[in-house]
Amino acid sequence: MAVNCSLASVLGVFLVFTLFHNPNTVAGQSIPAVGLFTFGDSNFDAGNKQNFTTANVAQGFWPYGKSRDNPNGKFSDGLIAPDFVAKFMGIPIEIPPVLRLNVNVSRGASFAVADATLLGAPVESWTLTQQIQRFNLMKAGNWNDDFIKKSLFVIYIGANDYLNFTKNNPVADASAQQAFVTSVTNKLKSDITLLSNSGATKFVIQTLAPIGCFPIVRQDYKTGVENCYEPLNDLAKQHNEKIGPMLNDMAAVSSGFQFTVFDFYNVILRRTQSNLSLSYRFLKTNVSCCGVGTHDAYGCGLPNVHSKLCEYQRSYLFYDGRHNTEKAQEQFGHLLFGANPNVIQPMNIRELVTYPAGEPMREVWLPTLSATFQDRHSSSSSSRGYELYTESL
Ligand SMILES: *[C@@H]1O[C@H](CO)[C@@H](O)[C@H](O)[C@H]1NC(C)=O
Ligand SMILES: *[C@@H]1O[C@H](CO)[C@@H](O)[C@H](O)[C@H]1NC(C)=O
Ligand SMILES: *[C@@H]1O[C@H](CO)[C@@H](O)[C@H](O)[C@H]1NC(C)=O
Ligand SMILES: *[C@@H]1O[C@H](CO)[C@@H](O)[C@H](O)[C@H]1NC(C)=O
Ligand SMILES: *[C@@H]1O[C@H](CO)[C@@H](O)[C@H](O)[C@H]1NC(C)=O
Repeated sequence: MAVNCSLASVLGVFLVFTLFHNPNTVAGQSIPAVGLFTFGDSNFDAGNKQNFTTANVAQGFWPYGKSRDNPNGKFSDGLIAPDFVAKFMGIPIEIPPVLRLNVNVSRGASFAVADATLLGAPVESWTLTQQIQRFNLMKAGNWNDDFIKKSLFVIYIGANDYLNFTKNNPVADASAQQAFVTSVTNKLKSDITLLSNSGATKFVIQTLAPIGCFPIVRQDYKTGVENCYEPLNDLAKQHNEKIGPMLNDMAAVSSGFQFTVFDFYNVILRRTQSNLSLSYRFLKTNVSCCGVGTHDAYGCGLPNVHSKLCEYQRSYLFYDGRHNTEKAQEQFGHLLFGANPNVIQPMNIRELVTYPAGEPMREVWLPTLSATFQDRHSSSSSSRGYELYTESL
């Protein structure tokens, strides 16, 4: 087996990984006391979905929250990426779900809801537009204009639009796909404009994951363990290609509009590649830790499903059929906050949050290959005064 016979090389990879993964956390640069607002779907839902339905939702039950003995409505065995980002920003509490009673939203909140979409009318959920409307309703009573201007608005949404589209249009041709991608990304643009009109100026947009590689998608479309369902990856890629240019345009016409794009697609893809997954310390990346089926991908937490639960969730990239383990979420948190431009560009969150609010950005998002980008920035860590997380490509 590859794992046994190449122990030395695996240890070598770990060593390199460790050397690169050693950023100073604060290094003399103080992070201003601003807020973190998250919008989107189940990935960023801190417990809001529980308020939409009288039925018991799976993510409120064991084994969700297993690692922290706290199934609280998050789709993970513990914390989710925004919780780690909040911690790195010096926010003393986990980002609370806005719909839970008596939560403290003084440093931000999660408006994200499982099943959220950009288009259509999601069942027992909110579109991104509706999430922003809720933000606007709460604004006057909770946050002043200066705080909003300096705070971060992190958005991750769209996967449910493409899953729904593919389910309902299994044989859509290229032009139907392009038309759908255009309507989804146009809607995202108008929603970002809506938030910008509410006073937000600092945006973090996460590209869509390779949806076709989710264990639940591999399982539903019967691709086997080796292959992803490429039609969904193609849609995600088309969507993602539009994000950077769209935000460049928005920054060009509205000075003071600041953004960055987190290349989540490749972050996930790298971790599913058999020649790379071990260097990120994942043994299982194509099947879930919790669930049933060929990829153990369905039904985690559901009362009537006899789910399998893996022994050691930290070996897994995916906790359920489409959401990541806490270990992976912590890696995403580190990358969002402190990665170099081959992962998040033109700035990481540490840089975006300390960048003077209201000023035009000095750099744009570049459609260049990540590898080229890494070379061009190879000296930037030292000039920044701290190490950046990088990823082998
Ligand atoms: C959330 O649900 C609780 C209990 O069902 C309810 O009392 C509360 O008003 C809801 N919150 C919002 C903001 O809708
Ligand atoms: C809310 O949390 C902040 C820290 O984020 C804390 O300073 C403040 O006292 C809290 N407010 C209440 C009412 O608990
Ligand atoms: C899902 O697709 C159907 C068929 O195209 C559409 O009617 C519905 O609005 C979509 N649902 C969402 C939430 O977008
Ligand atoms: C996981 O899937 C990738 C393709 O997405 C494939 O290259 C790899 O071999 C698979 N890993 C395992 C352990 O089957
Ligand atoms: C890993 O495999 C992929 C194809 O699955 C290939 O494109 C890539 O160059 C490989 N990376 C390394 C570091 O060997």
